[in-house]
Amino acid sequence: MCGIIGFTGRCEAAPILLEGLRRLEYRGYDSAGLVTGTGRQLHVRKKAGRLCELLRLLAAQPAAGCYGIGHTRWATHGPANDRNAHPHTDSRGWIAVVHNGVIDNYAVLREQLQRQGVVFRSDTDTEVLAHLIARCYQGDLVGAVQQALQLVRGTYGLAVVCQQEPGIIVAARLGSPLVIGSGRAGRYLASDAHALAGWVDKLHYLEDGQICQLSGEDCELFDQRLAPLTITLQDAPGELTDGLLDKGDYPHFMLKEIYEQPEALTNAMRGRLHEADATAHFGGLNLTAAQLRQVERIIITGCGTSYYAGLVGEYLIEELARLPVEVEYASELRYRHPPLDRHTILLAITQSGETADTLAAVREAKRRGQITLAICNVVGSSIAREADGGVYLHAGPEIGVASTKAFTAQCLVLTLLALYLGRLRHLSAAQGQRILQELRALPEAVRAAFACHTQVKSIAEKYAHVHNALYLGRQYLYPVALEGALKLKEISYIHAEGYPAAEMKHGPIALVDEHTPSVFLVPRGQVFDKVLANMQEIKARGGPIIAVVSGHDPEVAALADDVISIPHVPEYLQPIVAVVPLQLLAYEMALLRGCDVDRPRHLAKSVTVE
Ligand code: M6R
Repeated sequence: MCGIIGFTGRCEAAPILLEGLRRLEYRGYDSAGLVTGTGRQLHVRKKAGRLCELLRLLAAQPAAGCYGIGHTRWATHGPANDRNAHPHTDSRGWIAVVHNGVIDNYAVLREQLQRQGVVFRSDTDTEVLAHLIARCYQGDLVGAVQQALQLVRGTYGLAVVCQQEPGIIVAARLGSPLVIGSGRAGRYLASDAHALAGWVDKLHYLEDGQICQLSGEDCELFDQRLAPLTITLQDAPGELTDGLLDKGDYPHFMLKEIYEQPEALTNAMRGRLHEADATAHFGGLNLTAAQLRQVERIIITGCGTSYYAGLVGEYLIEELARLPVEVEYASELRYRHPPLDRHTILLAITQSGETADTLAAVREAKRRGQITLAICNVVGSSIAREADGGVYLHAGPEIGVASTKAFTAQCLVLTLLALYLGRLRHLSAAQGQRILQELRALPEAVRAAFACHTQVKSIAEKYAHVHNALYLGRQYLYPVALEGALKLKEISYIHAEGYPAAEMKHGPIALVDEHTPSVFLVPRGQVFDKVLANMQEIKARGGPIIAVVSGHDPEVAALADDVISIPHVPEYLQPIVAVVPLQLLAYEMALLRGCDVDRPRHLAKSVTVE
C-alpha cells in the first residue's frame, strides 16, 4: 500500500528518494511523487501511473536539493490521477505533505476549511493535513504538525517539509508504520525498513503518537504533547541488504518465492525441533508451559492468505492439541464483542505485520485483557511489537503481492505450535517423534512437487481463456481450495471460488458448465471417497476437472480431464504440498493473460488502511 521515503543530508535527495520509491513499488501503488527543497523553495513533482512516469517528468523538470520526501500512493479518496498523487501542498505552497492512512473526519475538516476560503485542488483526505498544518504554522514546523494532528481523527504515517525550514523533515505516526534511520550521508525516513537497505545500519521504529524532526545532523523525538523522548536506535534487521529486491534468475518475484519454499520451510523449522522432548519449541512466545496448559480456547485472526493459513491452523490445533479454535477475519473480529475469558488467547497471523485490521484486532484483544500472540514474517513490524509474544516465520522477505512462501511457512509454524501444545497435553512422545520425522522430510516433498511445473504450464494453456473457475477440497484441503482460488483471482483476474467440495450441491453447482473448470484437491486421506463422489457430481454436469492427487491415482485419473501429481505426505501436511501446483497454475495463467504478476491491479502488499 502507500509508501513513504524521506532524506535530509549532504547529497542530492531526488536520486535517493527515487531509489527508495523503487524499493517500495512492491507494496502496490497507482501514482508517485516527491518534493525536494533548495533555499526557500520547494519543488513538487508527481505523476499518476508507474514510477517511470515520474522519472520522465523529473528528466524534463529536475528537482534539486539535499532534502525531500517521496510517496507511492494507493488510491483511497479520489481516483489515481496527477492531482491526487502526493505530495499535497497548502495554498501558498509552503508546506508539502505525504501521508499513509486515512483521516476519518476529513470531510468535516474540509468543509470547515472551505468555509474559511481554502480552495482544494485534490479529492484526497491528505490535502486537509497540508492546509491545517499551514494554518497552525508560526515559524515552527514540528509545533504546527503537532497542533494540526490534535484536530484529526484517523490513522497516519506522515512526513512534512516546509520551505521556511530548509533541511528539516517532520514525521508522525498513528497506526501506519514509519521508521527513521541514520546513515553516513544523512538521516532517512521510510514506511518500510526495506526501503533503507544499505543506507542505514541503525533504525528507530516510531511508536504510535510519536513525532520526530530530522535534519542532516540530528534526529529529535517527541511524544504527542511535544515532550522530548529518547531515541532507541536498533540494529537494522539482518535481511536488510541491497540484494533484497533482486529477482536473481527468475522473471518474477512470485516465481522466485514459490521456488524458495523448501528453503523457507527449512528456515522456519531451524532450531525449533526438539528431539529429546519430541516436540517443537520457540524462543518468543513469552508464555510458560504452565500458562499454556491453562489455555482453553484459541481465536485465530488474520486477513486474506493469512486468514486461510489460520483455517489450516484450526484443523491442526484441534487434531494435534485437542483445543477448540475459532478463526475470524480480523476486519470482523475488531468490531465484534465475542465473550472471551482469561483462558482464551488471540493468535494473529500476518506476513507483513502491518495489516491495519489485524493490528486493530490485536489491540482490541489486549485492551480486553487477552493474551495475544502473533505469527509474523517481518521482524520489528507493528504487530510483532504489539503482541505479547510470537513466532517469526523466517521465510525471508516476500515481495510479490501474491503471498506464497509466507502461506506455507505460516502453515508450518502452526503445525509446530499444534505439536507443542499437543505435547503439553495428550500427544505421546512416540507421536511427537513421528511428527518430527515427517516435518523433517517436508522441504524435500515440496521440492519434489515442483516436478509438476511443466504439466501445470500446459494445463494453464488449456484454460487461460476461462472466465470462472472453482476450487474444491475438504478438511485440511478446504482452506487450500480457498487459497488456490484467491491466488488465481488476484493475479489473473479470473473469477474463482473456493468451496468445501460437498457444499457445491447447495448452490454453486449451478455455475458448472463446460467452460468452468473445477480444480479438485484429492490426495488420499480419510475423505478421499467422499471427494471422489463430489467429482462425479461435477463430471455428470459436463464440468472439466483438474485433479491434484498424491502419487499415481488411477481412480481419479478415470474421472479427471487433467491430473497433477504431488508427493505423498500425511494429511496434516498436505496443505503445504498441495498448494504448490495451485500457486504455479495461477502464475502461469496470469502470464498467459499478460497480467503484471508481481504487481496486480488494485492490490497492495501490505494493507495499512482498514
Ligand atoms: O501481511 P498480511 O499477511 O497480514 O496480509 C494479509 C493479506 O492482505 C494478504 O495475505 C493478501 O490476501 C495477499 N495478497 C494474498 O496473496
